[in-house]
Amino acid sequence: MKERVLAGIRPTGKLHWGNYFGALQNWVQLQNQYECFFFIADWHSLTSEYDNPATIKKWTMEVLKDILAAGVDPKKCTLFIQSQVPQHAELHLLLSMYAPIGWLERVPTYKEMKQELADKDLSNYGFLGYPVLQSADILLYRASKVPVGEDQVSHLELTRELIRRFHHLTGREVFVEPQPLLTKTPRVPGMDRRKMSKSFNNAIWLDDPPEEINAKALQTLTDPARTHRSIPGNPDVCTVYDYHQLVSDEKTLKWSDDGCRTAGIGCVECKQAMAKNAVAYFKEFRERKAKLKNDAQLFKTIAEGANRAQRTAAETLGKVKEALGLNYAN
Ligand code: TRP
Ligand code: SF4
Repeated sequence: MKERVLAGIRPTGKLHWGNYFGALQNWVQLQNQYECFFFIADWHSLTSEYDNPATIKKWTMEVLKDILAAGVDPKKCTLFIQSQVPQHAELHLLLSMYAPIGWLERVPTYKEMKQELADKDLSNYGFLGYPVLQSADILLYRASKVPVGEDQVSHLELTRELIRRFHHLTGREVFVEPQPLLTKTPRVPGMDRRKMSKSFNNAIWLDDPPEEINAKALQTLTDPARTHRSIPGNPDVCTVYDYHQLVSDEKTLKWSDDGCRTAGIGCVECKQAMAKNAVAYFKEFRERKAKLKNDAQLFKTIAEGANRAQRTAAETLGKVKEALGLNYAN
């Protein structure tokens, strides 16, 4: 039997290179090795977008298309939308009783997000419970592995503490302790070298058309010390070179590295070469995404995923109810 993996993504906008190279590309590999449950965490978006919920569906559909266009195959994995599997909400409620408020307040992302989104009122119950909902997501599928970025490790740790407390207080072992699946993923900076993020306006989107990729390549920060064509540069501190490493072959990398260090090439030609490779790299993605419409087929695909997810989720929830003696039917 294959080991089970669960991974989720919060829909906050369409996906950019950071999402792709940091997570999505990994999903495409994982679906061949593991029994995978992949989902779009739309309720998690609601914890911060509660005052503008109309955007959530729009972004969920956009992210769904990005996931499919990137090569996640609903025949190889179970792909679904969180809110279409109500068991997530039910387990979240039950787990919330076992989640001390102090634990939740100490989760580093809680304080960070509140600071980062200072103009947004995040003093709500749902936002504090974000990692409890995330725990429910994971535990429903009894997944042993969860691919997470470093920022999510603390959430997984909370999940494990929550399990121990639940098992201790109920005297029943119903959950599987998930381990983080830490895969080597490249750091993908934004065009301005800060973290790539929608809110920093420094992202390259997966579906950016060729002209846009070219324009963004020209805008991307290079070695700041290379102020003239005649001054040699250092690719190690150049964002364009970071991008080359994602989309270019060995030969081009060598050309860029040598040419930069010897001032044999200029930044403009280096950027153009990178853009050309990036355009080619995402060509298939763009073609596949353009074919995906918000149509009956797309909704059917995602409903099938929800059905499959519900079967596993309901089984786990049944065990939880039994552990709590809340199984009135039998
Ligand atoms: N919190 C995750 C993020 O922001 C998204 C997420 C929600 C998730 N539920 C999950 C990730 C369960 C892994 C497992 O990226
Ligand atoms: Fe960056 Fe290329 Fe310019 Fe070197 S030549 S600084 S690698 S863009």
